[in-house]
Amino acid sequence: MNPKWWKESVVYQIYPISFMDSNGDGVGDLRGIISKLDYLQDLGVDVIWVCPIYKSPNHDNGYDISDYCDIMKEFGTMDDFDRLLREMHLRGMKLMMDLVLNHTSHQHPWFIESRSSKDNPKRDFYIWRKGKNGGPPNNWESYFSGSVWELDPQTDEYYLHLYSKYQPDLNWENPVVIDKLHEMVQWWLKKGVDGFRFDAIAHIVKAEGFPDADNPGGTQTVRAYDMFSNLENVHTLLQNLHDQVLYFYDIMTVGETSGLGPERALDYVGDGRRELNMTFQFEHMFLDAASAGSGKWDVVPWNLLDLKKIITNWQVVLHNRGWNANYLCNHDQPRSVSRFGNDLFYRVPSAKMLATFIHMLEGTPYIYQGEEIGMTNVAFESIDNYRDVETLNYYEEKRRNGVPEEQIMAAIHKKSRDNARTPMQWDNTFEGGFTTGDPWLKVNSNYMEVNAASAVKDPDSIYHYYKKLIALRRQHQVIVYGEYQLLLPEDTEIYVYTRTLENERLLVILNFFEREPIYELPDDMISSPLELLISNYEPQKGEDLSHLKLRPYEARVYLQRLH
Ligand code: GLC
Ligand code: CA
Repeated sequence: MNPKWWKESVVYQIYPISFMDSNGDGVGDLRGIISKLDYLQDLGVDVIWVCPIYKSPNHDNGYDISDYCDIMKEFGTMDDFDRLLREMHLRGMKLMMDLVLNHTSHQHPWFIESRSSKDNPKRDFYIWRKGKNGGPPNNWESYFSGSVWELDPQTDEYYLHLYSKYQPDLNWENPVVIDKLHEMVQWWLKKGVDGFRFDAIAHIVKAEGFPDADNPGGTQTVRAYDMFSNLENVHTLLQNLHDQVLYFYDIMTVGETSGLGPERALDYVGDGRRELNMTFQFEHMFLDAASAGSGKWDVVPWNLLDLKKIITNWQVVLHNRGWNANYLCNHDQPRSVSRFGNDLFYRVPSAKMLATFIHMLEGTPYIYQGEEIGMTNVAFESIDNYRDVETLNYYEEKRRNGVPEEQIMAAIHKKSRDNARTPMQWDNTFEGGFTTGDPWLKVNSNYMEVNAASAVKDPDSIYHYYKKLIALRRQHQVIVYGEYQLLLPEDTEIYVYTRTLENERLLVILNFFEREPIYELPDDMISSPLELLISNYEPQKGEDLSHLKLRPYEARVYLQRLH
């Protein structure tokens, strides 16, 4: 089973700008994180993934880096960082950095030089092309609306940006760029960080010659993800990064790789590939979208059979060959309880059920800040309350195309990244205890009810349920390494699976909706004793396992010893 510490860990993701503000300027910061480490230690998580904290003009909240070896001034100083790392290590926790290697900020000195003239030595650090027929070099659409090309008047050429125009893509065909990036990664490793989440890593290589994508609709730009996702050379570049830098440290790596299924993911994480430990896959994140990528805004209902199919495929294909990263939420996604649970009438049981689902799968579970207290989506009435660059660009583009305001706002309420970015709700005081000042993004008004302080006090809270799930992972190897098997593949309401390791078997029963379906436990399971490890409801008196009536969003995990 090839044991590794990062397989046994539970990761907690922090979005620093929204986690905790220590000095009242409305912006979360490193000292704020330090002040909450005891809370995280109590929860039991052991790896903290911190979203980018590097120097940045913040057009995309730090995913636009202007100096890789400095700290964003709003977040603190390098001394604060060193203290953060020390304080984590003192508590037995590890720090995973979030590193953006696909692009920098347009304020990065490399880009400032690069754009200054065509013969600047740093010109080739980025991707510059002449226009075509009075327009951009090709028809590719950026992730954040509009063309991937921006005309720079200084030299009358276009530069490429897969994200916003403030995030020019680095040119990974230039060996000097690669050397500089390797050097920088090494610099952080020498400081003692314990791993990296590599942002947008699937996109560092683009199709040769930048060909136009098919455009049957004749639109100005088209979604052309195949032209810049998971191309063969990405693997060569990652293997070099691994062999020359990462290999020498005992770290954990996870890549953000949209647009692939488990077979292709094995190219990144397969044992012996010498690339990454895990990747974030996106298939289940598009279950409620009309199409992938920017199609995310066209919301469609998701269904459980598709979720089962996708997750089962990942579980089965990666077993013994790679490793999964399991998540339902992060800083780019709506809140999991609002999306896959029921935040109106069953917020607490459905959040616990979803947590059970993720933590009982094979793979490393990821918790996104606030998920452990069941934080929900927000619905600000006015676009003026939104801050996310993707959301704002989407709004403007749709307004320009004459789409009615209500329709745009409805999509934003469901899918805006700001749903996950509202400040962490610590207690029921002013601004949820996040800041003493004016928060950079409004706090969700439900903080009186949903907050960490009351969750910590209430033994039945989502928080305590997470704590128990994490503790169970430390006690039972089968939770980490057991082989997954799906039962009831055709059931549209109940998701049941087992995990088996040697003579132990877990039985995970999840009612994904509010109806109360009957689950008939298979005879061979009832024949030997079942130990209930965790559940979000008290078992009912005198219940009959051969005919179990599940309550709304009920989750149960049984452990059974096989002979
Ligand atoms: C990733 C990040 C997202 C960011 C984008 C550009 O998708 O998770 O937050 O906007 O990359 O760096
Ligand atoms: Ca602050």
